[in-house]
Amino acid sequence: MTHRSRGPGSRPRPGGPRDRRPSGGPPHEHSARKRGPRGSAGPPPAYEAETLFGLEPFAEDELRRRLGQSVRLLGRPAPGRVAMAYVGADAPLDALRSVVAIHRVETFAVPRPKALLGHEHLTRLAALLQGVMARQPRGAFETFRVSAAGADSPVFQRLKAEIARATGLTLHEEEAQLQIAVRPAPGGKGWQVLVRRTPRPLSARAWRVCNMPGALDATIAHVMVTLARPRAEERFLNLACGSGTFLVERLAEGPARAVLGIDIDSRALDCARDNLQAAGRLADAHMVRAGAGRAPLGAGQFDTVVADLPWALLVGTRRENEALYPALLAEAARVAVPGATLVLITASHRVFEEALARGGGRWVPEATYPLRVPWERGYLEPRIHVLRRAED
Ligand SMILES: C[S@@+](CC[C@H](N)C(=O)[O-])C[C@H]1O[C@@H](n2cnc3c(N)ncnc32)[C@H](O)[C@@H]1O
Repeated sequence: MTHRSRGPGSRPRPGGPRDRRPSGGPPHEHSARKRGPRGSAGPPPAYEAETLFGLEPFAEDELRRRLGQSVRLLGRPAPGRVAMAYVGADAPLDALRSVVAIHRVETFAVPRPKALLGHEHLTRLAALLQGVMARQPRGAFETFRVSAAGADSPVFQRLKAEIARATGLTLHEEEAQLQIAVRPAPGGKGWQVLVRRTPRPLSARAWRVCNMPGALDATIAHVMVTLARPRAEERFLNLACGSGTFLVERLAEGPARAVLGIDIDSRALDCARDNLQAAGRLADAHMVRAGAGRAPLGAGQFDTVVADLPWALLVGTRRENEALYPALLAEAARVAVPGATLVLITASHRVFEEALARGGGRWVPEATYPLRVPWERGYLEPRIHVLRRAED
């Protein structure tokens, strides 16, 4: 299922190109625990990582792992938000795979947004925006939008005009590249301006050249792959692989003994091939056209099985799922080795629970992670399930 994230200043679009910027940050990393930017005695730059709701702990793990001593995590100011101080190069921020986007955060000690129009604050705001833009190749940003409560008010109209003047960008209320949000600072300490660092969300992977309806958000696929603890000696199977999101995200985590995708729809497999090709990994994955309940595979081969089951929204119907889910669980158990991990996601909870209760093909539930993802004008609440294959 393709999901659109929402949050202040960000309307990520799944499947768009990922930024390909060179790192524009300082060459040496500094500890965010001790120092501010190089040559500055001030506090380290503040950022917020935006995630899908429910993925915050996974993002925090990845931030610690990738950014090390350069990052200090500062809590979760809101669902889907991880605050942090970071002093270091750009490249590790751009390599994050579990976050939708990274926003620079600057706090202005002003009582209301109107005060941002004063010369001093406007100069600082312009420097903030130009600083973000300078880290991208020339021309990466052409449009901007401002989201805020009252964004259509005369004050914000003037602010937008000033931003257009300072940046040379064109206002675009929908798919703008420079995404700016204005909101009250926590604790009533002024107002904050958030600026998304990249013209596209990080979740819009460069490899997604084929975006089929129902494709899984790549940040969710990344998290599901890491929940299975990828390792070089594993054999990895994606049942109902669709456009190949899991296959690409698995290969991005390092080599595997085998990576195989199965889908009943040849158009989905073509789409997966295109995406793997764009990722430069086509030679590292195999694809087979088959029903997930009757895979042409020998028993006891796979260490990891992942599946993004049809949710009976964009793909499949409830009736089809009532047949598919038990068949898929049984087939996954047949082709998995004892002790194997099954990680799957669905929003068809009743159908899944019933399939599991009816035997579940030897799968023992280990953990469940509820998510909340934007869907049309509301939310869907899928769950990631981690299960362990029982011994024979
Ligand atoms: C929700 S989509 C998977 C999307 C995929 N994770 C992606 O990112 O593109 C479900 C997939 O299940 C496949 N499917 C439906 N019934 C199937 C079956 N009986 N056997 C195998 N695949 C099936 C559909 O063709 C579709 O590609």
